[in-house]
Amino acid sequence: MQEQKTNISAYLPLRARVEKVSRLTDREKLFTVSVPTGLKLRYSPGQFFMAGLPGYGEAPFSITSACLSPEDTTFELGIREVGNLSAAIHRLVSGDSLWIRGPFGRGFDVSGFAGKDALFIAGGIGMVPMRSLIKTLAWQGAGNKYTVIYGAKTPEELLFRDEMEGWRDKGFDVKLTIDKPHPDWSGNVGVVTTLIPGVRLDPEKTVAIIIGPPIMYKFVIMSLKEKGLGPEAILVSLERRMKCGLGKCGHCQIHSSYVCQEGPVYKLSELKDMPEAL
Ligand SMILES: Cc1cc2nc3c(=O)[nH]c(=O)nc-3n(C[C@H](O)[C@H](O)[C@H](O)COP(=O)(O)OP(=O)(O)OC[C@H]3O[C@@H](n4cnc5c(N)ncnc54)[C@H](O)[C@@H]3O)c2cc1C
Ligand code: FES
Repeated sequence: MQEQKTNISAYLPLRARVEKVSRLTDREKLFTVSVPTGLKLRYSPGQFFMAGLPGYGEAPFSITSACLSPEDTTFELGIREVGNLSAAIHRLVSGDSLWIRGPFGRGFDVSGFAGKDALFIAGGIGMVPMRSLIKTLAWQGAGNKYTVIYGAKTPEELLFRDEMEGWRDKGFDVKLTIDKPHPDWSGNVGVVTTLIPGVRLDPEKTVAIIIGPPIMYKFVIMSLKEKGLGPEAILVSLERRMKCGLGKCGHCQIHSSYVCQEGPVYKLSELKDMPEAL
């Protein structure tokens, strides 16, 4: 896992510019945000920014774009409207300011995927950070076997469906599911774990990545163990309440680990002494 260096301050919020806002679903919007010219924007999939607005505070938001060039000056956030800050961010339009610190956290070590097959398992808004990893690996085009399993409650809640044909063109096998039958849906019905038994994988060379609501993790991990995957081959991204992002306030602490610094991405093997993590 790796931490990319940037010269955006970890302490002092930087005024970034909202370049574009697109609606993803009833509850989520996609924000394309730019940093001033001259700043180095560097991040790994799985990392997050603390993003905020004066008078509303700040909160962690995962980066959903992929950092593919050192010249990049824009990144994307996929934000669900759940409270004061996210509602205020949803009211922003192109040209408005968004204040950012970061990026923070330990993301995915993309080099660790070399020569590996990967099984990406996402639930709901977990597709926001997962998309960053998928886009990064798709761009690298290593020709490994990549399978995406993605589930949401309803078809309308599945994020980035319009991009998935492009992922399929890059060789990704994309399997979608929704929780309950729906008149507009002829695909798989059931939680994401219902799709795991049908995936053919080589446990010796497969890495599985899980990002989704807390309830999902235990069941997905059980299914992956039945497939022969060990704790070194299972990566999870954890969500905890955060305030500073800097390993100071302790809001995100699980046992002795600060999720804002040592996470949010962990190997399952790293969580063996932290049963409260999952
Ligand atoms: C590492 C990380 C990455 C994240 N990435 C994204 C992202 O990409 N997109 C996105 O929309 N959100 C993301 N979140 C969640 C986001 O930071 C919170 O929802 C944030 O609190 C929203 O602020 P708010 O003021 O709008 O809502 P708040 O007023 O803070 O909260 C609204 C509701 O959500 C509950 N809540 C808030 N935070 C949490 C939490 N961590 N766990 C459980 N319940 C909580 C509150 O109790 C309340 O009911 C991420 C969180 C973490 C820790
Ligand atoms: S958010 Fe403050 S220590 Fe992690």
